[in-house]
Amino acid sequence: MARNKYDIDERLETPFDFKHFKRAMVYVKKYRGRIILALTLSAISAAVSLLSPLLTKEAVDVAIPEGRIDYIILLSALFLVTVVVSVILANIRQRIMTRAGQLMIYDIRKDLFAHLQELPFQYYDDRPQGKILVRVINYVNNVSNMLTNGIINFVLEIFNIIFVTIFMFAVDVRLSLVIFAGLPVFIAVTVLLKNKQRRAWQAESNKHSNQTAYLAESINCIRVTQSFAREKENLGIFRRLSTEYRAAWMKAVKINNLVAFSVDNIKAIVEAGLYFTGLMLIGYPSVKLGSILAMSNYANRFWQPIINIATLYNQFINAVAYLERIFETMDEPVPVKDIEGAEELPEIKGEVEFKNVTFAYEEGKNVLENLSFKVKPGESVALVGPTGAGKTTIVNLISRFYNLSGGEVLIDGHDISKVTLHSLRSQMGIMLQDSFIFSGTIEDNIRYGKLDANIDEITSAAKTVCADEFIRGLEDGYKTEMYEGGSQLSGGQRQLVSFARTLVSDPKILILDEATSSIDAKTERLLQKGLNEMLKGRTSFIIAHRLSTIKNCDKIMFINNKGITEAGTHEELLAKKGDYYHLYMAQRFEEAAV
Ligand SMILES: Nc1ncnc2c1ncn2[C@@H]1O[C@H](COP(=O)(O)OP(=O)(O)O)[C@@H](O)[C@H]1O
Ligand SMILES: [Mg+2]
Repeated sequence: MARNKYDIDERLETPFDFKHFKRAMVYVKKYRGRIILALTLSAISAAVSLLSPLLTKEAVDVAIPEGRIDYIILLSALFLVTVVVSVILANIRQRIMTRAGQLMIYDIRKDLFAHLQELPFQYYDDRPQGKILVRVINYVNNVSNMLTNGIINFVLEIFNIIFVTIFMFAVDVRLSLVIFAGLPVFIAVTVLLKNKQRRAWQAESNKHSNQTAYLAESINCIRVTQSFAREKENLGIFRRLSTEYRAAWMKAVKINNLVAFSVDNIKAIVEAGLYFTGLMLIGYPSVKLGSILAMSNYANRFWQPIINIATLYNQFINAVAYLERIFETMDEPVPVKDIEGAEELPEIKGEVEFKNVTFAYEEGKNVLENLSFKVKPGESVALVGPTGAGKTTIVNLISRFYNLSGGEVLIDGHDISKVTLHSLRSQMGIMLQDSFIFSGTIEDNIRYGKLDANIDEITSAAKTVCADEFIRGLEDGYKTEMYEGGSQLSGGQRQLVSFARTLVSDPKILILDEATSSIDAKTERLLQKGLNEMLKGRTSFIIAHRLSTIKNCDKIMFINNKGITEAGTHEELLAKKGDYYHLYMAQRFEEAAV
């Protein structure tokens, strides 16, 4: 059984490739100033906080034995200052970095979104929406955190290690060496467990992505799910994906705990060694109690950055894998795009010509072969034929949603592959079977293709297409807020709104692909008048199941077997008694039967 897309893990286990990191620097560079400032503040804050063990040492070794109250108060006050200063500085740094991180997230998302908008339909047909969302949301968050805080913390921890080492050696060289003795053990544990740990977290992230993909699919298809009463099965799938996610998470946490446990033990043993060496081997007064306390504090401060760096290193490797996925999306080729030096298509008069057009979605499987026809400006052409014959494909090629395998599509004599997509598509009106309603008011929806349309243009368009009446009947008329997808409208009403939208945008070439399929016969008869209005002065291509809709078209083309099998007016084709005649008769019979 083929696996569902949401069951296929993203490939995150990639060889570490520095080039992705280098490429990410483009986004980091913009905030270089802030990062350097934050780094400076952090370094000052770290240095200040390192002074406090020295103050403890001074208090225990000097001030307390000598009973100098004033000195103790001074030391306490200084201690407080170091704490307050380091906290304030850390706070400011956090703010600067959070802001830089958010700006960077915006930059990366903006680039991703801009590219996603250009990608062909095929890209979206091919992968679950949820996985695209995870890339745009989760991966970008993760990466930007790494690129801001991650980088700073990394540099900072290196600083910390250097500082602490200096302070440690300044207090006592022999005890410092005891602390260093734990290092080889730590490295051994890290090498043993880190790879496992990283893989475990990658698995966790994959399972998370799978679950999100399934969730997104389920939300999109909730109507189908409920109408087939599939809730129980879907809950089962969701439960399985959740269990996988939880198991991956538990495993990762277990390894994390194991690492933390080992590190804690090493730290404890080192600390015991510190006291033992200090008190037994060296002995008082050679090593004072204050020094041991200070050293114990430094030991902690020495280990923490090392542990942090090991963690950061893992996160860093993961972030590079995420970066690769992000850049992969950004690099996804855009097959249909403006050629070098593409010209603007001048205002369209409306002549459309197919010259020996051959087209295949998948190589070797031609949907159209050597198709040629010519339509004069202002003519209305109907495409009829069996499902899967290629009618939608033909109209998609006029808007150049795909590149041809052979031949040319010409508009007013201009090869459409040589003009800019914007100049081409902005002069086209395309209406599909499922008319999408965006969130916003009905008015905004009608204005979608012509943002400066005023309310008169909008209402007159709505009147023409018989939408005015039902819109006025809505709660707030034209100002009624639509749910996403316009789910409070009927399918037919959605189509009427999208007719109005198309009419307002005043296209020179009009394409209706089963655009009246959800409208009842009565409304369609009413709409027919509006439709005729709409067709006036425009070249139009109409695909409709109900042949009564297209009877009056200037030309009817019957599509079958990768090309046109019959063409002519309704009367001519009926007289011919071919495919069209049979289709028409079958429909008349059906209608009579209803
Ligand atoms: N995006 C696509 N990818 C691959 N094949 C497709 C795609 N769209 C349509 N096809 C195939 O192309 C043929 C023509 O489809 P289409 O133009 O949609 O037919 P019609 O609109 O006449 O019903 C069909 O065999 C269909 O399976
Ligand atoms: Mg179709």
